[in-house]
Amino acid sequence: MASASVYDQLLDYTNRANPYPLYAELRRTPVTRADDGSYILSTYREIVALLHDPRVSSDLRNRADYAMGGDDESPPGLPPNFIALDPPEHDRVRRLLTRHFGPPHDPYLIHRMIPELVEIASGLIDNLTTRSHVDLVDDFAYPFPITVICRLLGVPREDEPTLHVWADTIVEAIDPTTGDFATRKRRRDRARTELGRYLGELADARRDHPGDDMLSGLVTDDGPEGRLSREELMTNAALLLFAGHETTVNLIANGMLTLLRHPDVLQRLRRQPDLAIRVVEELLRYEPPVQFLNNRVALDDIDIAGTTISRGAPIVLVLAAGSRDPDHAPNPDRFDPDRQYNEHLGFGGGIHYCFGAPLTRPETQITLTELVRRLENPRLLADPPPYRPNPLLRGPRHLPVGFDGVAPAPATPGRDQRLSQHV
Ligand code: HEM
Repeated sequence: MASASVYDQLLDYTNRANPYPLYAELRRTPVTRADDGSYILSTYREIVALLHDPRVSSDLRNRADYAMGGDDESPPGLPPNFIALDPPEHDRVRRLLTRHFGPPHDPYLIHRMIPELVEIASGLIDNLTTRSHVDLVDDFAYPFPITVICRLLGVPREDEPTLHVWADTIVEAIDPTTGDFATRKRRRDRARTELGRYLGELADARRDHPGDDMLSGLVTDDGPEGRLSREELMTNAALLLFAGHETTVNLIANGMLTLLRHPDVLQRLRRQPDLAIRVVEELLRYEPPVQFLNNRVALDDIDIAGTTISRGAPIVLVLAAGSRDPDHAPNPDRFDPDRQYNEHLGFGGGIHYCFGAPLTRPETQITLTELVRRLENPRLLADPPPYRPNPLLRGPRHLPVGFDGVAPAPATPGRDQRLSQHV
């Protein structure tokens, strides 16, 4: 049972800056049982096996303790979003959304956005020209992906402060370490209901006056499978907005922190922007924004690594521990963008593999490249920086960075287009 208490230590804020030694300890027993009855998986092979196992559900209504007040993902009046559904419902909703997010129906959607991504990043860096230090979270990593996801969905940017409050409440509710569960759930349900209602009204407006955004596409879709219901649209658009807010922020912030701790790689990226593709993949392995998934439940008794996970039991998949499993990745605690084989768990795996990965990859490649290219002599002003409390969606709350000046944006038409082939 020693490892179960390691899991408790992981939830403890004092370990937020460096949870990796605890993950190494956790991996000594690939499947352990925590005091609350959850099964914790920490090795690459076992995590991948369960990510692809149809006996593992993402619908928390299957939890044995559900009837006794266990969590479910949906606030009253709204269906669960598709991250919390199993096939066939999950697959239908994901297909309907994918029609407006990329291949095969709109294969060039993200590709077309590349110049706009560069422009948004450049604009935020231009704002720093009179400064000698910056909080890279508040002044860059947070506003960048929000601007992008709002444009993509068709949400007015000026509504962002309200969205920010709702998003914070939802993140807080995911955090297993804050406050009592019933209060968190009540606040989260209210935030999700309000966010859903806001998006429903926006979608109604887009039905009458469609634009070239995702919400307009979804409400006017004439595809063979019909459209999402209004409630499905509300709950799933809220998921996209929220996922687009909260994860990329941490990848950009973790990315700059890691580059500033590895100045040799930073200098290489400055000279060789193509390296961004490998840097971002390695970051997703080495400092992933989603450290673990606590949204799985066993539909049957499952034998794995000498343990039987009992039917109805909650399962936690510690993705960040799996990606640093030495049996999978040699020298796993080394940040090495040159590693030949990099099959990480940063975007999960199986049918719930991250829907937003094709957007996040170029977002992060472009932002890191622009930052290292334009900030002159950047240096960390706090190491480790202060972290957000959440152990699951982990990243710095602030990232104070000093610099000597801001280089002008290079005026080369078509620059960064080469990154787009990897989205
Ligand atoms: C660095 C950025 C991101 C990371 C690290 C990340 C990570 C993940 C992970 C680990 C999962 C698997 C969840 C599970 O299996 O339960 C996931 C699913 C998902 N992500 Fe992301 N994500 C990122 C960005 C985004 C963005 C920008 C969007 C929206 C545009 C997005 C939308 C989603 C959705 C909708 C799912 C659920 C997919 C499904 O259930 O089929 N993500 N993401």
